Amino acid sequence: MELISSKTYKNLAKAFAGECMAQNRYKYIEYGARQKGYKNIASIIDEVVYQEFNHARMFYSFIQSATDETIDNIDIASGYPFRQKWDLTNNLIFAAEDERNEAQRIYPEYAATARREGFDDIAGLFDNVAAVEQRHFELFNRLGEQLGSGKLYKATEPVVWKCSDCGYEYSGKTAFKICPLCQAKQGSIKIDG
Ligand SMILES: [Fe+2]
Ligand SMILES: [Fe+2]
Repeated sequence: MELISSKTYKNLAKAFAGECMAQNRYKYIEYGARQKGYKNIASIIDEVVYQEFNHARMFYSFIQSATDETIDNIDIASGYPFRQKWDLTNNLIFAAEDERNEAQRIYPEYAATARREGFDDIAGLFDNVAAVEQRHFELFNRLGEQLGSGKLYKATEPVVWKCSDCGYEYSGKTAFKICPLCQAKQGSIKIDG
């Protein structure tokens, strides 16, 4: 089967659209987080934004590999989520759910179709991207839950809290609200990405 006349070709275009949207959607979350002073959450999200950009790039490359001709149009009828509003915690949880859908439902289905149609390399790409989206799901879910429950800046045992702006370190169960050295907001405290 020619890629250009396959279902996989359309799935690549749908996946490209999805990744482009994810990239923008997470950039909006990143923008909101930064505005609220959650600098390190914003940086972590920015890494995800860049990864979605690269996922889109890989899908785009396969679409182009189908023909040397200019591709004027690929018709795709598909639905995409538009759930994020203005609350950071909710947005992270929504993002987690969207990532889970990609990781566990959408891309495995596209991979199976690609395999059925004889495009093993594209099936492999969908599988590899799905594995990354699973990590994104776990990351967004953890950040959303920790932020929502107030646990992001609290620990059960004393830990070291470090200000990423000036390097100030403090050990305790609760993180400082304002950095005593440089007055940075709590959002500047280093967190795991
Ligand atoms: Fe992605
Ligand atoms: Fe993702």
